[in-house]
Amino acid sequence: MTAVDTPDLPDQQEMDQSIKLITDNADRVFSWKYDRERDQLVTLYNRAMASQWDSVNDLDWATDVDPEYLVHTTQKDNATVAMARAAKDLPGSPFANWSEEQFTQLSIESLKATLSQFMHGEQGAMMVAAKICETVPWIDAKYYAATQTMDEARHTEVFAKYLHTKLGDAYPMSPFLEEQIQVLVEDSRWDIAYLGMQIIIESLALAAFGQMLRVTEEPLLRKLLRYVLSDEARHVAFGILSLGEFYEGLSEAELKDRQEFMAENTIRNRTRSTTPEIWERMNMNVDEVRPFLMEAAASLDSSYFTTFQAGFFSKLVPNTRRLGLLDANDGLLRRQWGEAGLMEYESADSTAEDYDSYDAVAADRAAAG
Ligand SMILES: [Fe+2]
Ligand SMILES: [Fe+2]
Repeated sequence: MTAVDTPDLPDQQEMDQSIKLITDNADRVFSWKYDRERDQLVTLYNRAMASQWDSVNDLDWATDVDPEYLVHTTQKDNATVAMARAAKDLPGSPFANWSEEQFTQLSIESLKATLSQFMHGEQGAMMVAAKICETVPWIDAKYYAATQTMDEARHTEVFAKYLHTKLGDAYPMSPFLEEQIQVLVEDSRWDIAYLGMQIIIESLALAAFGQMLRVTEEPLLRKLLRYVLSDEARHVAFGILSLGEFYEGLSEAELKDRQEFMAENTIRNRTRSTTPEIWERMNMNVDEVRPFLMEAAASLDSSYFTTFQAGFFSKLVPNTRRLGLLDANDGLLRRQWGEAGLMEYESADSTAEDYDSYDAVAADRAAAG
């Protein structure tokens, strides 16, 4: 067949850039036991069904969003913008001649980068939830994972729509986040998908969405975040309830693998999670800018960097304790996290207990009568 006879296939190069292939090594599991044996998962599934929300009608997409007004509150605590401002007065600074408009533009680009990572992370969560639905051996967990898959589709869609209709072009996924999600999709063990997504990444999401919700005054983004958070808290509870049971039956050697996974994915350096493309869009050279930002960072109040970490670990540490992973193997993970200064968060509430308090959807419906 000559090239002329080739039917209309999408251009190969264009297709390669718009998709990414990942091979999943886990077995799909059909369960013949339809008895509802896990009461807490049944309760969680029923709550998930009752608090489904509608991305078209529950959010007012006609809201007029002024990006400058949006970042005025939403980016108040943003470390990138604070570092650039602090770098302005350094000798030879590439920011020396920056106007107030340029700092505002940087703030807008930085917010777009953050919302873009939320969007890509939500798509990853959708795929991992679908994987759990296919690979977990318990019917109650399959049902719940199916509702989570729908939740994550809605989350991906609303972040994409907010970016596209209110702010403009999204940024690519950060290589750090991409790698973190890829290993979860590839792993042959179904519980690792839960451990990486429901326990680590969704605890991170609770902290990140919660931090943005505390500062932003833009009404559409506020409601979007409140509703996404309602769902996320249940997703974390799903992870704790499922893995708590599964890990009771594992040997110390098997638990050690999981403890090492937790240490590897929580303590290691997170600096690669930044989005260098922000500087390209600001017409700056990232390599030229970086040393000035590093120097400026040292002069900043440490709360720019620690508030978010505290939000993350005050979810993660109690949730991990509930799984028995802190103390297995003579407290292996407790020791490693202790050395990293994280055990101060141990006594915070576990999301398995407080997920209902996040349910803004049910609260709004009750208020409306
Ligand atoms: Fe989500
Ligand atoms: Fe989620």
